Amino acid sequence: MSDKKEMTGDVYFPTPEVVQSAHIPDYDKVHDEATADLPGFWGKIAAENFEWYKPWNQVLDDTNAPFYKWFINAKVNIIHNALDRHMRTATRNKAALIFEGEPGDTKVYTYQQLNYEVCKFASVLRAMGVEKGDRVTIYMGRIPELMIAMLASAKIGAMHSVVYGGFSTEALLGRIEDSSSKLLITCDGAWLRGKTVDLKEIADKAVERAGSIQNVIVVKRTNQEVGMVAGRDHWYHDLMALPIASATAATEVMDAEDPLFILYTSGTTGKPKAILHTHGGYMVGTATTLKWVFDLKPEDVWWCAADPGWITGHSYIVYSPLINGATSLMYEGAPTFPYPDRWWQLVEKYGVTILYTAPTAIRGLMRFGESWPNRYDLSSLRLLGSVGEPINPEAWRWYHRVIGRENCPIMDTWWQTETGNFMITPLPSAPLKPGSATRGFPGVQIDVVDEEGQPVGINEEGFLVIKGPWPAMLRTLYKDPDRYVETYWSRYSKQGWYLPGDSAKKDEDGYIWVIGRIDDVIKVSGYRLGTAEIESALVSHPTVAESAVIGIPDELRGNVIHAYCILRSGVEKTEQLKLDLKDHVGEEMGPIAKPTVINLVDSLPKTRSGKIMRRVLRAQTLGQDVGDLSTLAD
Ligand code: WTA
Repeated sequence: MSDKKEMTGDVYFPTPEVVQSAHIPDYDKVHDEATADLPGFWGKIAAENFEWYKPWNQVLDDTNAPFYKWFINAKVNIIHNALDRHMRTATRNKAALIFEGEPGDTKVYTYQQLNYEVCKFASVLRAMGVEKGDRVTIYMGRIPELMIAMLASAKIGAMHSVVYGGFSTEALLGRIEDSSSKLLITCDGAWLRGKTVDLKEIADKAVERAGSIQNVIVVKRTNQEVGMVAGRDHWYHDLMALPIASATAATEVMDAEDPLFILYTSGTTGKPKAILHTHGGYMVGTATTLKWVFDLKPEDVWWCAADPGWITGHSYIVYSPLINGATSLMYEGAPTFPYPDRWWQLVEKYGVTILYTAPTAIRGLMRFGESWPNRYDLSSLRLLGSVGEPINPEAWRWYHRVIGRENCPIMDTWWQTETGNFMITPLPSAPLKPGSATRGFPGVQIDVVDEEGQPVGINEEGFLVIKGPWPAMLRTLYKDPDRYVETYWSRYSKQGWYLPGDSAKKDEDGYIWVIGRIDDVIKVSGYRLGTAEIESALVSHPTVAESAVIGIPDELRGNVIHAYCILRSGVEKTEQLKLDLKDHVGEEMGPIAKPTVINLVDSLPKTRSGKIMRRVLRAQTLGQDVGDLSTLAD
């Protein structure tokens, strides 16, 4: 590790206590070991920390790259490591999940209780004909049953496809259809800011149009009136009370490379991509990264304030805390409900020791001032985390000073749905620089390069690349292996590098500063949205002929959406229509995808081949130089 004098910029050094207590006190040593023998490194971790029904005969198979395989011929189920094995130890009686609902109701599940619910629901799923390899779509609010549904699916070898509860009909429909799920698990409604979101009603609209769904299971959460279709819809609590809901349910023996789940995420063009993760590698990667980066100890109360509907929740609310035998907090609602102190109250109430959230949430809470957090005892916190977008140094410092009382290192973790786990991240023993995610996790070779793959100069912007495979990497895009190769592995196919789609800089100390996306993905409040899906929601409105959507930097949300629409002939450009179009996107895609600004225009800048030049729109909107326009059609 570089010593204090050598490092440039604003550097925060860890205290000796933090370094001593860390699982990995010496990054360089472990990183070097991992780099020297990557399969050896992961093989040792996998053997020492997890139970396998049958061990592998080879750690990594790279003969068919980029279709890498890990833990060849091993038999395992992630649920065996997340639940089953804890039934034999004292962990059985430990709180696995502490749930606080937005209205203030609370519920605690010990590992034993959680396993009981998962076994029963797994039996229900089996009785309903769900088999190994089937897809199950889950569309729910942030409640324990969401986790139970995911775990039960995994237990029986089915692949879950969770659709974020903030999405709407079109988004849900597209994801159900693409995965051809037979079963949908949803709830009557979800609590948000004191009101209810009509999840069942939205789900009904999607299910009516999706041919594949045969059964819908509905969890009662808000007690609102919902229509139940006889023969198709079943209450969760009714099913769980039937004899079919047996508490003895065998965990399906899976191959390490068998699919665990698909999770749709936005890409550059067209429909969302179904990222596919597997039982073995994902299990080893997520659990190890959580343990090392957040220095997880048995006495911790871990709070990942994300939603299970996104990869952050999959990896760091559902799977890795359970595999580590940790206690997790899950909170259902908004950080500001009923007042902007809700989160700080939760930290005090449950003695949260590690808080992991997104910069947008920090900026949002920062706006309300220090007096809200200062009313609470936050001294239980010992580590903080950030994810989802670059954290601006101002928000970093506020988080560090006000929430962490200058005592808690901040782990700024860069990763993606595709990577499955943290990739660029400090360990608690690392010197930190506000705004930098620092360096690659041990064994992860990160670089910043130009078009040809040459490293760019110090502090120069280039493309982020990952040189080589890792256990929790996506294996493919479900049903679309060509797009997998094309999207991630084609630009640097000669070198065999993975292209995440972000731009970044590397500083004098080798620290990485992620700048943002280089494609048409927009990060709004840390949520990953694709321009294509929002554009197709706009053109599905009867007045819109064509549209283009761009992300514009925003202080609070990171980016906001600006839309440009060409109307059909004869349609009048009115302020009311702009409002209608915003609502339309909200209804089709979900409130998070609503454009902040709608511009009604007569033409859009296009290349001669007809591709919309969003770069030009963005420059125009920001009042910047529009650059080279020689390829513009008109
Ligand atoms: C961005 C979220 C800067 C990045 C886990 C990436 C970040 C995309 C950070 C993936 C970070 C995530 N600093 N940018 N710490 N973490 N990103 O798939 O652009 O929803 O490519 O996964 O979020 O978003 P996704």
